[in-house]
Amino acid sequence: MKVVTCIAPVNIAVIKYWGKSDEDLIIPINDSLSGTLSMDTMCAKTTIIASPELQENIFWLNGKEQSFDNKRLANCLQEVKQIADKSLPHLNWKLSIKSENNFPTAAGLASSAAGYACMVTALAKLYEIKGDVSYIARMGSGSACRSMYGGWVLWCKGSSSDGKDSIAKQIAPAAHWPEMRVIVLVVNDEKKKYSSTDAMKRSVQTSELLKHRANHVVPKMVKACIEAIKKKDFETFAEITMKESNSFHAICQDTYPPCVYLNDTSHTIIAAVHAYNEFKSANKVAYTFDAGPNAVLYLLESSVDEFISVINYVLPPMDNNGDYYKGLPVSPSQLSQKL
Ligand code: DP6
Repeated sequence: MKVVTCIAPVNIAVIKYWGKSDEDLIIPINDSLSGTLSMDTMCAKTTIIASPELQENIFWLNGKEQSFDNKRLANCLQEVKQIADKSLPHLNWKLSIKSENNFPTAAGLASSAAGYACMVTALAKLYEIKGDVSYIARMGSGSACRSMYGGWVLWCKGSSSDGKDSIAKQIAPAAHWPEMRVIVLVVNDEKKKYSSTDAMKRSVQTSELLKHRANHVVPKMVKACIEAIKKKDFETFAEITMKESNSFHAICQDTYPPCVYLNDTSHTIIAAVHAYNEFKSANKVAYTFDAGPNAVLYLLESSVDEFISVINYVLPPMDNNGDYYKGLPVSPSQLSQKL
């Protein structure tokens, strides 16, 4: 019997992946860029057992048995086995795969990214594969390829039809910008209304704006954002991050029928970030939203305490019914009285 266990963290895109040119291989229509969280935060953990005693493959996610008859899982497994050494005795043993996330699953918090990155890393370890396997994690869930590396990661869409060059690369390690912090504001931890997979397909089919975004907006943003990260220029990094999140949600609105992910609380957070940045006369906090209402904030360590007090003022903790407040409107002058 062989047993391997791995953990992989979530990554949060600052330049979003949205739209595929190949649905089966999961090849994106644009490059994307993200920061991978540290290992002690939001993570997936996967244990794989390969045993000659197992009669069938089994897969458990967060304590619930799932069907193994899943195309994405099958594609990853097939690809890993294809590059593995064929003389490994356990290559044909059946597998028991158990994955768990230490945060809400499918709530727009990049759970599939951490999940597939973790599973593919575990499979690569089980079958003793060395070298980059981010293109295999990509076949499980596109954004997963970026969780294969720490720090700041670029997923290049690539140009080959087999997707072998649609891979992730680290552009800077986390240690390059050690003052960077991420705050995740969980506005709603329920499963998202429309899966990213279905919604981005609908965007590709119906949004004219998406073509403009993928071909003209994102390439410039990626270049400028990499430069800002390399120079540790938070002002520019924050502006690109917020504009990019807004551009992505504009595409969601332009999709027909539209996919509305942001709610009133998300908009309250957006307004609070802009009010705070205006009050500080500089971009001190950047928001970004994936396919859900939950806000992810990028900020430097020096701004964390003060911005948390802004959030506690604008969005007091839950009321007794367990409902979230919609939030209070806030202006830069109100902040100057509070802080
Ligand atoms: C909004 O990677 O979940 O989080 O490839 O269909 O599994 P599939 O989609 P997925 O999409 C993530 C979309 C996003 C943006 C991003 O992480 O880049």
